[in-house]
Amino acid sequence: MFILKFKFRPILVIALAWIFTGSLAAQTPKSGTSQNFNLIRWNHGKFLYGADYYPEAWPQNQWAQDARRMHAAGINFVRMGEFAWVKMEPAEGQYHFGWLDQALQTLAAQGIHAVLGTPTAAPPAWLYSKYPDIAAVNRQGIAYRFGSRRDYSLLNPHFLAATRAIVTAEAEHFKNNPAVIGFQIDNELGNPYCYDRYCQAAFQAWCRKKYHTLAGLNRAWGTIFWGHTYTAWTQIPLPWNTLFGVVNPSLALDYDRFFDQATRNFLDMQAQILRRIAPTKAITTNEMGMFDAIDYSKLNRALDFVAWDNYPMFDQRHANYFGPGLSHDLMRGSKDGENFMVMEEEGGLPGWTTFWGRQAAPGLYRVWAYQAIAHGADGVCYFRWRTSRYGTEQYWQGILDQDSYPNTRYRMIARMGKEVQRLRPWLEGTEVRSQIAMLISPASRWAFHIQPLTKGFDYNRQLLAYYRAFRRRGANVDVVFPQQDFSQYKLLIAPSLFVVTPQLEAKLSAFVRGGGVLVLTYRSGVKNGNNVFTARTLPGRLARLAGVEIHDYDPATTQRQAIAMNGKKYPAGVWFDILTPGAGTQTLARYARLFYRGQAAVSLHPEGRGAVIYVGTEPSSHAFYNQFAALAARRAGVHLSGLLPAGVEEASREKAGTRLIFLLNYTGQPKTVALGIATRNALTGGSVGAQVKLPGYGVRVLIESDSAAFTFRR
Ligand code: GLA
Repeated sequence: MFILKFKFRPILVIALAWIFTGSLAAQTPKSGTSQNFNLIRWNHGKFLYGADYYPEAWPQNQWAQDARRMHAAGINFVRMGEFAWVKMEPAEGQYHFGWLDQALQTLAAQGIHAVLGTPTAAPPAWLYSKYPDIAAVNRQGIAYRFGSRRDYSLLNPHFLAATRAIVTAEAEHFKNNPAVIGFQIDNELGNPYCYDRYCQAAFQAWCRKKYHTLAGLNRAWGTIFWGHTYTAWTQIPLPWNTLFGVVNPSLALDYDRFFDQATRNFLDMQAQILRRIAPTKAITTNEMGMFDAIDYSKLNRALDFVAWDNYPMFDQRHANYFGPGLSHDLMRGSKDGENFMVMEEEGGLPGWTTFWGRQAAPGLYRVWAYQAIAHGADGVCYFRWRTSRYGTEQYWQGILDQDSYPNTRYRMIARMGKEVQRLRPWLEGTEVRSQIAMLISPASRWAFHIQPLTKGFDYNRQLLAYYRAFRRRGANVDVVFPQQDFSQYKLLIAPSLFVVTPQLEAKLSAFVRGGGVLVLTYRSGVKNGNNVFTARTLPGRLARLAGVEIHDYDPATTQRQAIAMNGKKYPAGVWFDILTPGAGTQTLARYARLFYRGQAAVSLHPEGRGAVIYVGTEPSSHAFYNQFAALAARRAGVHLSGLLPAGVEEASREKAGTRLIFLLNYTGQPKTVALGIATRNALTGGSVGAQVKLPGYGVRVLIESDSAAFTFRR
């Protein structure tokens, strides 16, 4: 009956469902159960050290030995159950949690606590067979077949009902079990995008809620172009499956916002059930660092703490610590700088379905885990306890292999297990502090996916280039999002701020007038919040603040370009904004080639008590960024140390009067760091001189509690 009705009036039902889930979401507590969630206290006073464990895939007579081995390695935490829906509910409404009770009991006997996944990432075959339309549909309108994971439509009413039922049953069953300390919602939310009829109806309802009238929507999206004017809400299409793959950028950006909110509503719905039934358990979900389909800074309001999955060797060169570092900082920034945990830390050789990746020296697994801690992690959980014998991920190593032999990775992880508990008193209560922040604009990132400037454009590469330059000098760097307060920073780097609203313009002006130094780069201020091109002179709303006008630009295709700064030339590419500096604006660098040779490429505009630096291009050599970081920091009054040896990272956490300095060597060669101050080794208590020697893959955690030296360092 419901189905029949639904068939004939989808928009009405979906609109109601959308408004309903939207209002549910609004009731979710804004910031979880507490401000500044203390992960160590929550984990019964121990530094959270764990492994992702899948007891359902191993004979029960192996569990006790697993638990003993975990305990021997210092493991006090597991995450379990996130793909075990069919084991928890083998047939509709029949719940079997006994096996999980037994696993929890076996682990608890060794002092190991658990976060349980809500299993919605892996809906069972019986659910697909009963409701075939829960399958997600791709851009071309083709439904996925059963056989992967997270291939559901997150707006399908049958899937939502099944989700509510399993999450309710799970919360009811485990709400009083002391071995369960929290829940992880689903697994790596954020895709696939949804293109089924439920999504279309929900998108139409979302547009109606946002624009109220069709006239308003048509105006905002500029649908006069090619006569795309809509005369009924039901005419609004989903983006992309069009002739030539063209799309209205305004519609596409709103679709990205809609999908972001649909994902948030899905998480909020689960969070609300868990909080109502099991209020003493903490709530998190495992996220993906730089993954950008979701605005984590909004999603994370419903969580107690942020958790994410860190695979540095999967997609990074071994000694390149900047990518994972920036991801940690982004994850920390996505919940106002609060400490976080790594729910999946790379614990073995990556690969996936068909090909293996590259093996790393065992010592690197320890260095990467320490990097997480240095960047604010109060918990590290390795993926996975043991490599799977079955299914898609046979080519993805865990700590142990299928034979359970206590291999070198196990021994290394066991060594670190002892260390982290010794470090716990030092770590607890410390946080990462920084005077420098990178501003990430989710709307700009989405808008660039819709209309990348040139083939070579990569928003994240720019972030990393600036980030790396400050990190190379041992500075902590935060990540902030447009709606957050960034007034406390001295230096704010906002690469390619494509989409600028009046609110953001006002915040940036206040930041600069109050004494901050703002770094903008090419293609800033081009679009308004509707992804419509500005009618102002570029860089649009930021032109006055930046003290420059841009009347000409040159997208880099095959031509070579360079900029000259302080008598040195640096290669540059991707895009060339040809700057016309206003009165009082200095030119810091000029183009060195082509018909606009000699014209301004980089400018500095003093404004109020601060300044704006506009970099009209993307220099491609590290030498430029090293020079630039020194210049920008000097202007902002931020002290930077000298360059660290290549392959060595310095990062710090602090609390009143004490700073912990982490030195991490990602290379197999010994390195020496000229720290310039005397410290103590947090693990051994021994004093350490101003020159610190690090063995290959070595880690030092140093305590600086001398307040005079502390002042000197800042
Ligand atoms: C992700 C997932 C895990 C697993 C790992 C490694 O991070 O969350 O379930 O698939 O990748 O493949």
